[in-house]
Amino acid sequence: MSHTFTLDGKTIYFEEGQTIMQAATKAGVFIPHLCYHPEFKPHGSCKLCTVKVNGRQTASCTMRAIAGMVVESDTPEINDERRTLTQMLFVEGNHFCPSCEKSGNCQLQATAYHLGMMSPHFDHFFPDRPVDASHPEVLLDFNRCILCSLCVRASRDVDGKNVFALSGRGIDTHLIVNAKSGQLADTNFTLHDKAAQVCPVGVILKKREGFAVPIGERSYDKQPISATVEAKQEGY
Ligand code: FES
Repeated sequence: MSHTFTLDGKTIYFEEGQTIMQAATKAGVFIPHLCYHPEFKPHGSCKLCTVKVNGRQTASCTMRAIAGMVVESDTPEINDERRTLTQMLFVEGNHFCPSCEKSGNCQLQATAYHLGMMSPHFDHFFPDRPVDASHPEVLLDFNRCILCSLCVRASRDVDGKNVFALSGRGIDTHLIVNAKSGQLADTNFTLHDKAAQVCPVGVILKKREGFAVPIGERSYDKQPISATVEAKQEGY
């Protein structure tokens, strides 16, 4: 049985058990997000998807829809906060977009454009992070990791391998590879793993395939991330 709530004044139908994000996506309404992926259990960590429900802030990817709730998402106040979170993600890592193979296909970059981010605003941390080129097929560039945990969830829940994990706490949290050496080559990771397909930024990159699609012709070069909401509904 379907019920309804309102999202920025629009009536949204939902099925029992659906989250606000799921119902909004199904209705074709884009809510910015980075750690949400329709094929995985929500992680609720990036907070980009924060909305106001009856005046109180909550993550829309984890909050179940309730009939009659009044949800605000696309407001100047909420988008300001999302922009600040995005700026923080940019300065916490080392994101050199013009030289990144993922440029134009990167959800972080596309979200920054969507939110009208014009500068990083904060001082860059310039963290000292490694690149792991040990694997024959895949390069890991930890500089771009935004700790969404999608590779962790994909490797654990789909591939059944637990190749990745998040280690440390707070600002020291970082992505690690589960091998004694810490190197991807010493795991059973392959290019065909689900974990190889889900990185929303440019951490997990296929070797020897640089710039196969020219800049200017990539997904978010052609359409803004907000227009991809239907693609996400079906999985991507
Ligand atoms: Fe909801 Fe990241 S998408 S917290």
